[in-house]
Amino acid sequence: MNILILGSGGREHTFAYKIAQSSKCSKLFVAPGNAGTSQVAENLQLNPIDFAAVGNTSLEKNIDMIVVGPEDPLVKGIVDYFANDDRLKNIQIIGPSSRGALLEGSKERAKEFMAMHKIPTAAYESFSYESLGAGRNFLETLNPPYVLKADGLAAGKGVLIIDDLEEAKKELENMLSGKFGAASEKVVIEEFLDGIELSVFVLTDGKNYKILPTAKDYKRIGEGDTGLNTGGMGAISPVPFADETLMNKIEERIVKPTVNGLLEEEIDYKGFIFIGLIKVNNEPYVIEYNVRMGDPETEVVLPRIKTDLVGLFESTWKGDLDKVNLEIDERSATTVMMVSGGYPESYQKGKTISGLDDIKDSIVFHAGTKIEDGEIVTSGGRVIALTSFGEDYKKALKKSYQSAEKLQFDKMYFRKDIGFDLS
Ligand code: AMP
Ligand code: GLY
Repeated sequence: MNILILGSGGREHTFAYKIAQSSKCSKLFVAPGNAGTSQVAENLQLNPIDFAAVGNTSLEKNIDMIVVGPEDPLVKGIVDYFANDDRLKNIQIIGPSSRGALLEGSKERAKEFMAMHKIPTAAYESFSYESLGAGRNFLETLNPPYVLKADGLAAGKGVLIIDDLEEAKKELENMLSGKFGAASEKVVIEEFLDGIELSVFVLTDGKNYKILPTAKDYKRIGEGDTGLNTGGMGAISPVPFADETLMNKIEERIVKPTVNGLLEEEIDYKGFIFIGLIKVNNEPYVIEYNVRMGDPETEVVLPRIKTDLVGLFESTWKGDLDKVNLEIDERSATTVMMVSGGYPESYQKGKTISGLDDIKDSIVFHAGTKIEDGEIVTSGGRVIALTSFGEDYKKALKKSYQSAEKLQFDKMYFRKDIGFDLS
C-alpha cells in the first residue's frame, strides 16, 4: 500500500517509523514532515488543510491510506471531503468525520455529549457574551479555583485556572470579548477537579474499539509542573497507577459509553479517541476529548504496540477491529523532549543539532527539525523526543536522560524531572 501521513511533528515521525516497518507498506509519504520523517519516508510540500491539494496529490501518488496526525484538518472536515468525492472515497482515511471531530473542536459539544451519554465529567455551564451576567453569577456558586475554557480550538492555550473570584469574572469577560478570537465566543465554566491526570487512547472503527496503552504527559515547561503550558515536555507509558480496577472503571463508564454514543448519534468515526482523564479518589472523570493521538504521548504509546499498525488501520477502516488481537510490549516506554531555549514563548530556529548519531539506547523522534545545507537544524520549539524502553519507567527514563546528554544544540533545554509525581 502507498500511505500518506499528514503532519510534521514527533507524533508524525513516530507514525512514520512504525508504518515503515510494516510489510504492508510499499511507499510512505509525510506531508509536510520534518528531517526525521525524510529518513523513513518521502516528504511532500503539502499543507494538510489544503484538502484539494491533499486530494490531488493522493490521486497522483496512488495513495491507499491516509493517517491524519493533527486535529485541525479533522475539525475542518478532511474526512468528509474525501467521503464526498467519488475519486477519493475509497482511500482509507484514518480519522473522524467533522461531526466526530467536534468532540475536540467544541468544549461545549463535548460536555453535552458526556451529559447525554452519562459519562462522568466535571459539572459545568456554558456562556456567551449575551449571558455574561449569568456567567458571573454561576462563578459565585462555585468554589475556587475557577476553570474557564474557550469553547473552540485555541492551540492548547484556551483553558484558564484562576484562584480569585473577581479575576475569574474579569477573565470571563475578556474571553467572551475575543481574548482567543472566535474560539472564546462561548466559554465553558467548570467545577475544578483535584486529582492526578492520565490519558487513555482508543482506536475505534465506529462500533468496535481497542484500548491502546495508557500514557501520562508533562505539559508545563518548568520542573515540578510549574510555568507555562507547552505541547508536552515528556511522557510515560504505561501509567503506573492505572491498575486493573481503574482501567475497568474507565472502560465501563467512559470508553464504552463514548463509542456507543457515537454509534447512537450515527457519527462516522474511524480513528483515535484520546481521552484526557483525572482520577479523583480512585474514580475517573473526563477532562477532555481529543480526536487524534497526543504528542508526545504517541512517542511512547506506538512503540509499545507490537501488532502491525497498518493492519490495525485496515481493520479500523473495514469495521472489524473486533477480530484483531492487540499485542502490547510489556516494558515501559518514556520520552523526554528537547526544546529550544525560550519555548513556549519566543525562541530561535536554525540551530545545528549534533550528537544524533551517538544515540544508541533511545529512539530519536524528530519534532521541529529540518535539513538546511545538508545539516539537521532546529525549526520549532519542540525539537527532538528521545524514547527509551525499560523494565519500569525509571529504568527507561535513565536511558532517555543518558541519550539527552549526548545531544546538543544552542540553548537546548529539557525537563529533568519527568515522572516526578509517580513515586
Ligand atoms: P484541557 O485543554 O481541557 O485539557 O485543559 C488543560 C488542562 O487544564 C488539563 O490538562 C488539566 O490540567 C486542567 N483542567 C482542565 N479542566 C479541569 C478541571 N475541571 N479541573 C481541574 N483541572 C482541569
Ligand atoms: N500532549 C497533549 C496533546 O497532544 O494534546
